[in-house]
Amino acid sequence: MPAERTPYIAGNWKLWGTRAQAADYCERLLTLLPDSTRRRPEVGLCVPYTALETVSGALEGSGVVVAAQNMHQAESGAYTGEISAPMLLEVGATAVVLGHSERRQLFGETDRALSEKVPAALEAGLQPILCVGETEEEREAGDMERKLRHQVQEGLEQVADDRLADVVIAYEPIWAIGTGKVATPDQAQEATSFVRALVGDRSKDAAERVRVLYGGSVKPDNAGEILEQADIDGALVGGASLDPDSFARIVAAAE
Ligand code: PGA
Repeated sequence: MPAERTPYIAGNWKLWGTRAQAADYCERLLTLLPDSTRRRPEVGLCVPYTALETVSGALEGSGVVVAAQNMHQAESGAYTGEISAPMLLEVGATAVVLGHSERRQLFGETDRALSEKVPAALEAGLQPILCVGETEEEREAGDMERKLRHQVQEGLEQVADDRLADVVIAYEPIWAIGTGKVATPDQAQEATSFVRALVGDRSKDAAERVRVLYGGSVKPDNAGEILEQADIDGALVGGASLDPDSFARIVAAAE
């Protein structure tokens, strides 16, 4: 990846982390990460809503980005069970994962909703991490590009060209998430470069600057070969982020 793009390693805790667990985790992680002045990859943690305040407090001044795992596009309204951007900001989040495949597959998240969530996050001052990726059947049927095109175009549809590079895009093939079946470096490079080209259809400048991450069974022992691919600017790490030691080793692989 070109030096202008700062690598980014984000851990996605998914449904893990009481506040007590979160506090212990952060304390340990801070002993393992290089301090923020020497840290080259940007590091983020995507944590449950209830842990946001604990994590942002524990990591204050460390430069680690604290992200939520979802958000509603409206600021307030009759949307029982939802959380808005101002609520996230108030508890210290500065980023938000949008369109994770588990939200799409298990909870009915749609590209239509994402086309509103991504600009809403940006306008509120949150860094959106937009997740895209194909299923195994789609890949086998030769439908990967069609699927990615649809997800990227619709997710970014209402983002102005000059804000496109403020979105972080995570390419996460669904067949590689939580399965131990990691995409080969070539497969990951091919798909992330396609995602970058899709951004390039909107703005060449944004395509140069936008960060595209890979996610799906990233572990300390495979992170290096994935991160050295030309169009891969970092990783979204699920399972291996739950252990601060293995997460810190993945961060070290991006240095
Ligand atoms: P995994 O999850 O690293 O456990 O495969 C990645 C993700 O869902 O973001």
